[in-house]
Amino acid sequence: MCGIVGYLGTKDAMPILLEGLKRLEYRGYDSAGMATISDGLNLTKAVGKIVILEKELKRRSLAGSIGIAHTRWATHGEPTIINAHPHVDCEGVIAIAHNGIIENYRTLRTLLKREGHNFKTETDTEVIAHLIEKYHEDASLEDAVQKALAQLKGAYGIVVISTKESRKMVAARNGSPLVVGVLDKEFFIASDASAILPYTRDVIYLNDGEMVILNSHSYRTTTLDNKDINKEVEKITWDLEMIEKSGYPHFMLKEIIEQPQSIKNTLRGHIQPDGIEVKMNCLQNGFPKAMPKISAIKLLACGTSWNAGLVGSFMMEKILRIPATCEQASEFRYRWPVIQPHTLSIGISQSGETADTKGALELAKKLGSYNLGIVNVVGSSIARLVEGGLYLHAGPEIGVASTKAFSCQVVALSILNLGLARYLDKVQPLENKEPRVTDKDFKRISNELIVLPDKVQQVLDAVYDKDSGQGIIQQIAKEFKGINNFLYLGRGYNYPIALEGALKLKEISYIHAEGYSASEMKHGPIALIDKNMPVVIIAPHDSEEPISYDKIVSNAEEVRARGGRIIAVVNNGDDVISKMAEWVIEIPNTLAHLVPVLATIPLQLLAYEIAIMRGLDPDKPRNLAKSVTVE
Ligand code: M6R
Repeated sequence: MCGIVGYLGTKDAMPILLEGLKRLEYRGYDSAGMATISDGLNLTKAVGKIVILEKELKRRSLAGSIGIAHTRWATHGEPTIINAHPHVDCEGVIAIAHNGIIENYRTLRTLLKREGHNFKTETDTEVIAHLIEKYHEDASLEDAVQKALAQLKGAYGIVVISTKESRKMVAARNGSPLVVGVLDKEFFIASDASAILPYTRDVIYLNDGEMVILNSHSYRTTTLDNKDINKEVEKITWDLEMIEKSGYPHFMLKEIIEQPQSIKNTLRGHIQPDGIEVKMNCLQNGFPKAMPKISAIKLLACGTSWNAGLVGSFMMEKILRIPATCEQASEFRYRWPVIQPHTLSIGISQSGETADTKGALELAKKLGSYNLGIVNVVGSSIARLVEGGLYLHAGPEIGVASTKAFSCQVVALSILNLGLARYLDKVQPLENKEPRVTDKDFKRISNELIVLPDKVQQVLDAVYDKDSGQGIIQQIAKEFKGINNFLYLGRGYNYPIALEGALKLKEISYIHAEGYSASEMKHGPIALIDKNMPVVIIAPHDSEEPISYDKIVSNAEEVRARGGRIIAVVNNGDDVISKMAEWVIEIPNTLAHLVPVLATIPLQLLAYEIAIMRGLDPDKPRNLAKSVTVE
C-alpha cells in the first residue's frame, strides 16, 4: 500500500524523507516522490524503486527543512512520473501526499475543471490539491484543508505543505493510518511508525476524523471540524520488524487477517445504493461494435488465481447462461485452442505479471477474443494488455502464498458477473425474455457482498486465536503436523476450495496434498483412504442452491467407512457431517458462490499453522517465486 513520510524541523528534510521512504519499501509500491520547501516548492518523482528516486535526488538535491514524500501503489492511473505523489495545485504552491481512495473524485474533478483548475494527472488525489488551492486563497492552510476534506467521500490519510505558509504542515486522517513523531523542535509524520522509529519513539496516533497542524515549535491536534483535542503522546515499544508486519510474525498471517479490509476495498464504489446495479468502467460504454454479443467466456489464470477463476466460471455459467470455462493459462497457450467469434476472455492475476497468463491472453486476443482483466497490481503488464477490467485494490500481497488476492478475486468475479448480467439483458436478452438476475436476487447478492467482510471477520475470530494459540485451527495443526499426506474434497463451488486448500498446504508446509472433487473420489482417490489419511471435507452449502449436500454426506460416509480422519468445514449448526467428523470448523451461512471466500480462510490458516509447527518460513517457501514472470 502507499506510504507517507513528512518532516518539519531544523535539519535537511531530504535525507530524513529518503530514509523514511526506504523503511516503507516493504509495503510494496511502484513509484515515489518528494517535495520540500526552500525558496519555493521543490519536487522530484521517479517510477520504480527508491534507488531511482535517490539517483534523481543526487542530480538535483532538494533543499529545505520541511518536506513530504510518498511511495505510491497505483490505484487511479498507471505508475508514471506524472501520477506519482506529491501532487500540486495549479500554481505549484501546495503539495500533497495521499493514501487511500477518493470515491467522488470524478464529480469533483469535473466541477473544479469547470472553475478553471488545470489537471495534470489521472489520480484521484489531485482533486484534493485543487480543492485546497481553492480555499487557501483567503484561508489558512488548516482551514483550507478542512473545507476541502468536507467535500470528499472515501478514505484518506493526507499530509500537505504550502509555500504560502512555509513553516507549517497539516495532516489529516479518515480511514488511512497516520502517526506523528514528536521530538524537541522536530516533527515527523508517517503512514506507519517504521519511518519514524530511527528518530523518535514518542508518537501521537491520529484517529479517523482527526488532524494535526505542525509549526516550527509546536503542534495542535483538532477534529476535522476544528475542535481542539488533547492527544496523548505514546511510547513505541515495538521493533522495526514487528511494525512492518503490523505486529504479525509473518506477512502471510497479516494478509490472511486483513481480508475483511481487503474485501471492502475490492467492493468500494461498485455496488450502487439501490442494490440493483453495479458500476464498473469496463461495462459502462459497452463492448466495441466488433463484439456485438458474447458467445463464450474463457477465464485464464494460473495457481490460486486459476482456483478463483474456476469459482468464477461456475457462477458465470449459472447466471449468464453462456458457456464459461476456466483454463490454466500455462496449458491453454501451448495447445491449439479454438476461440469462437465473440468470445470474452478474462485474465485473472494478482501480480499482473505472470508470463503464462499474459501469453494466454495475447494468444486469445490474436484468435479474436475481447480481453478483460481482474488484476491486483495497477499498471502491471496484464492490466495494460487487456481492454479493461477490475482492479482488486487488495493492497500489496507480499507473502508468496496468495491469500487475500483469492478472496478478493472471487468478490471481483461476483461483481463482474452482476454487471455482465445487466449488460447482457440489454444487448442479448435470453430467449424467454426473463432477466438473468431478478432485482430481488440482485439485491440479495449485493447485500450479501456488503456483509461479507463482517462474515470473514467472524470466521477469523471463531477459528483462530492468535493470543492463546488454542483456536480450532491451531489444535488441528498440532494434531496433523507430522502427517505426510492430506486429501481435500468438495463438490460444486466447494471443489475449487479443495484445490486451493491443498495448494496452500503443499506450497508452504511441503506436505503432499491432493485437492479433488468429492464426486470423483470413487474414480480413484478413494484407494488412498485409510486410518492415516486426514480428509478435509468442505461441505458448507446454500439451502437455495440445488447442490448436493446429501451427496457429500455420502462421500463423508465412504471416507469414514475406510477409517479416514475427517476434518469438516461446514455451516454453523451443521448436524450431519459434523457428527461424522473428528474435527469440525464452522463458518457462517452465505450464498453458494461466496462460500469459497469464507471456507478458504480456515484452510489458509491451517496451512500457515502447520508450516510454522514444522519450523518453516511461510513467507519464503522453497523453490517458489511470488510472481512467475518466466514460463
Ligand atoms: O500473480 P498471479 O495471480 O498471476 O500468480 C499466479 C500463481 O503463480 C500464484 O497464484 C501461485 O500459485 C501462488 N504461489 C499461490 O499461492
